[in-house]
Amino acid sequence: MATPPPGSSAGSGQQGAHRGAPHPSPRHPRLDPLADRYAARTHGMKSSEIRALFSVVSRPEVVSLAGGMPAVTALPLDAVGSMIGDLVSGMGAQTLQYGSGQGDPRLRERICDVMALEGITDASPSEVVVTVGSQQALDLVTRVFVDPGDVILAEAPSYVGALGVFQSAQARVRHVAMDDDGLIPEALEEALIECRANGDRVKFLYTVPNFHNPAGVTLTEPRRQAIVALAEKYDLLVIEDNPYGLLGFEHEPMRALRARNSERVIYLGSFSKTFSPGLRVGWVLAPLAVREKLVLATEAQVLCPPSLTQYAVARYLDTQPWREQIKLFTELYRERRDACLESLSALMPAGTTWTRPDGGFYVWLKLPHGLDAKLMQPRAVNALVAYVPGIGFYADGSGQEYMRLSYCYPEPDQIREGVRRLARVIEAELDLHSTFDAVDTGSFRAVRPGPETTGSGTIVGPANSNAYEGGR
Ligand SMILES: Cc1ncc(COP(=O)(O)O)c(C=O)c1O
Repeated sequence: MATPPPGSSAGSGQQGAHRGAPHPSPRHPRLDPLADRYAARTHGMKSSEIRALFSVVSRPEVVSLAGGMPAVTALPLDAVGSMIGDLVSGMGAQTLQYGSGQGDPRLRERICDVMALEGITDASPSEVVVTVGSQQALDLVTRVFVDPGDVILAEAPSYVGALGVFQSAQARVRHVAMDDDGLIPEALEEALIECRANGDRVKFLYTVPNFHNPAGVTLTEPRRQAIVALAEKYDLLVIEDNPYGLLGFEHEPMRALRARNSERVIYLGSFSKTFSPGLRVGWVLAPLAVREKLVLATEAQVLCPPSLTQYAVARYLDTQPWREQIKLFTELYRERRDACLESLSALMPAGTTWTRPDGGFYVWLKLPHGLDAKLMQPRAVNALVAYVPGIGFYADGSGQEYMRLSYCYPEPDQIREGVRRLARVIEAELDLHSTFDAVDTGSFRAVRPGPETTGSGTIVGPANSNAYEGGR
């Protein structure tokens, strides 16, 4: 498939850029008088499935298994509060001032200590760029590498926030299948060969190897080796996004992809899940030449990351028992994961399958044949339980039969109640289906877009959602 020219709508699922001669005045007043002026990159922008749920899930009577909010109240809030107070009263001249675009040098040193826990022992603070969460890191990396029409390889499913960034860069996402052991190397190689044959420019592979969002699975050791070997064989750049790596329940942190290859892997980290998402501190570790471009890009975007929160994280790492705190978080999340998995096993109707995460925040659930998580959502909200429908995690509009459940935020009892409500909704949905199956129901059934209906030019990949068929 040929790469569409920059700015073209092909491949990004957009309706087409408004170019050329100005439009004549419309006959009817437009709802949005600026509608003709928006940049082409805004055409594919839409509210994420998660944000769309925000007003619903904040109602106290709803059990939300939707948002991936860390359990920040488990932090020593008083200690953190007085630490931040001291940073202002004692060091306001620095903490309330502009800082370096690359980020505070002391924090960058401490970030290298954190990465050493995942086997990255050769990182230098000079290769680290501090960002406003790893979300900004994703945006920076995409700005630095991706032109409109370029192809990004990404797991099927993929983190919704990354897909949003790729979409606004007008990239084409080619999904690569994964299963319970993470990204499938053979599927990656197939994608690489296919892209080469089509003349597509693959800019990088985006992957979340640990406790994947949303799939909950972790890339196994042999597959890590295989994927790094493929990166070498095919001259592939890998973006390793790893916000959850230290939150494992069963084993020590796995060795990062970046620990195996420092030239081909750019590593993104975050303090959002191990400390606080409200501070918005993340980072990129990249070879020096790339780092240079990332710093220029961040300076153009935000001048510098916020000084106060960088100092807060550095001080936290210097003075608080952060390793013990991570252990406490993992125990808390393990208990919630157990509550979730036990209730799913006890209550879900036959035909429902799900993944078994051994860390992180998420379970990926597949509905019985024929059900659609998005269509079912109003019924679930009515039954006072919320989840995120799977379609948001695919660039090609597939994933109707999936949903993401987050167990990180509600208490175990709430999780059990939430799963109980969800099981009832699914049962009722199955009932409806068996009743209406015999009848021509017109719009009742979801239209399942096959690859051929997902828009010309879009690389829709195998997006092999059935890779989870064997999930427990
Ligand atoms: C896989 C992944 N990457 C990046 C992010 C962004 O995290 P933050 O910007 O808070 O560091 C998230 C947040 O949920 C995530 O799950």
